[in-house]
Amino acid sequence: MPSADTCDRGLGSVRLEDVIVAPEALAGVRWSALFGNNRPVELEIGIGKGGFLLRRSQAHPERNFLGIEWANKYYKYAADRMRRWNVANVRVVRTDAADFVKAHCPRTSLSMLHVYHPDPWPKARHQRRRLVQPAFVEAAVACLVPGGRWALQTDHAEYFEQIRTCVLDHPALVEVPFDEPDAGLRDARLDTNFEVKYRRAGRAIYQLAVRRLADPSTGKTPESG
Ligand SMILES: C[S@@+](CC[C@H](N)C(=O)[O-])C[C@H]1O[C@@H](n2cnc3c(N)ncnc32)[C@H](O)[C@@H]1O
Repeated sequence: MPSADTCDRGLGSVRLEDVIVAPEALAGVRWSALFGNNRPVELEIGIGKGGFLLRRSQAHPERNFLGIEWANKYYKYAADRMRRWNVANVRVVRTDAADFVKAHCPRTSLSMLHVYHPDPWPKARHQRRRLVQPAFVEAAVACLVPGGRWALQTDHAEYFEQIRTCVLDHPALVEVPFDEPDAGLRDARLDTNFEVKYRRAGRAIYQLAVRRLADPSTGKTPESG
């Protein structure tokens, strides 16, 4: 049964075509046109089967969510999951998230960016395929609103060190507690598919959350004035 707080529309009225966005529609996208309102927008990259995106969008019907997933099988599964639960505040697109963030995502527009268990590409010759690299971080910062948050989680210790260095090197980003109450990450348990799998296997989970400063030279955010 759908949870009551997800529905702007009538029961069962969200169609798959309401959830799925064609990648071409993201060139020059305006969030207000995509979602039909001006609510804050959160982006999740690599949604997998969409479990976190579903729960988060249900918990925050007052926000909009875009989920990006490259794998055909998973993006379809996740989009259909949103339809089945009649979630009206989520859009799902199959595209390369790095390309989207660098080239198309509206600047100064995201209240939160979620990246959980990005592919670690452990072999040295594949590591240039990793999502979190300086050029991506630069673009991600440009997409966040001042005060906007970026949460990252991985089970891969070496990739995590690279992520920490790369993200914290950016002068506009400052580390914040992962489960800050107003970020609403439920005591840092995201319960993504990969998190559940790795926690069961007793693997360590590494987390980092940062906030975009309004002005890196003063260290001020909207909250701190
Ligand atoms: C290891 S899985 C993690 C899935 C989910 N976040 C979780 O924690 O269960 C990584 C996912 O990111 C997707 N992905 C990897 N690189 C991507 C990219 N550049 N753009 C979009 N999706 C990507 C993969 O297809 C895969 O489904």
